[in-house]
Amino acid sequence: MIKFYIETNEVAVPTFNSSGCYDIARKDEYQTMEIKIIKSTELKQKPKKGDSLKFGTIFTDHMFVMDYNKEGGWNNPQIIPYGDISIAPSAMVFHYGQEMFEGLKAYKGDDGRILLFRPLKNIERANQSNNRLCIPEIPEDIFLEALKRLVEIDQDWIPTEEGTSLYIRPFVIATDPFLGVRPSDTYKFIIILSPSGPYYPEGLNPVKIWVEDEYVRAVKGGIGYAKTGGNYVASMKAQEKAHAEGYSQVLWLDGIERKYIEEVGAMNIFFKVDGKVITPALSGSILPGVTRASVIELCREWGYPVEERRIDVEELYEAHKQGKLEEVWGTGTAAVISPVGLLRWKDHLMTINHGKIGELSQKLYDTVTGIQRGRIEDTHGWTVEVDSVLENV
Ligand code: COI
Repeated sequence: MIKFYIETNEVAVPTFNSSGCYDIARKDEYQTMEIKIIKSTELKQKPKKGDSLKFGTIFTDHMFVMDYNKEGGWNNPQIIPYGDISIAPSAMVFHYGQEMFEGLKAYKGDDGRILLFRPLKNIERANQSNNRLCIPEIPEDIFLEALKRLVEIDQDWIPTEEGTSLYIRPFVIATDPFLGVRPSDTYKFIIILSPSGPYYPEGLNPVKIWVEDEYVRAVKGGIGYAKTGGNYVASMKAQEKAHAEGYSQVLWLDGIERKYIEEVGAMNIFFKVDGKVITPALSGSILPGVTRASVIELCREWGYPVEERRIDVEELYEAHKQGKLEEVWGTGTAAVISPVGLLRWKDHLMTINHGKIGELSQKLYDTVTGIQRGRIEDTHGWTVEVDSVLENV
């Protein structure tokens, strides 16, 4: 067993905020927290170079696990062999869905450096989700260190082929064995890693999207902006319907007027209309995507006017009729940049850019993945290098 120590001033002692949920207490002094590392003695077969990797189907040798209880706060961080966990069937996560998850990626650059893409943004968003879901926030420095050390240990699993990456899935589940409805007092924070190929089998070929006008995903005031399973299970019925019609995903409309564009199942959405880039504003019911924020920044730097606002689906249809709907693409950690070739809204079929990837979508894909892989200079400070420290402990 290896013991690795991290310094933290965000501790363990929970306080309650005005909405009765947990907040992190920050202390003036730093304290040391020990991560125990137990290396797997049975290393699994890794995918071979040239194997075509699907998204999210295989998992590496190790996982990070940390517990929370009211008395001790977040405690007992460990990196242990990847495997099943034992939780009571009465655990609250199974009954009321009190859980948060995140998604981010690690890449191995051509120069051998291991890079995480904007992990602090994911950590910030994880704690925003936690806050909405009454889950205790996770100290940022412990979260980041957990990501780095787990990726360091399983670095040989990072695939290097074009379109692949090591997908990182941190999540928290409520573990109190209790059937009443209230926030749990105990939790588990787990991080698992999955060497993955493109999220859509289409890869960079444009996907077909179904504009959903029957079911809704989220409404303002709800949990739409939080990354939690409930938002995804809410999407499945419509997604099944879309799949049956030959569409990859659903584009959601707002839950009240059913006419303003929200987001796609696993991505935020962008439109290029008459030279301008337009995307729905973060209104509380859509996910504040990390790739979304990066794309907005890049487009602005490249001189495109970018509007974050309400977009009526009728406005898009009109733009399409006038030949002004030039490009449509989705953004997401898993999907990166995913061009949309066809939108179906009611009986209207809108083919975009002759069903081909547009110039701006391609440039965004090349730039974002170039920065992620360390091939393009990271002038924004978006990438965080995973340093090698465990060999010295
Ligand atoms: C991501 O893009 O990382 C996601 O979490 C979307 C999806 C796989 C649920």
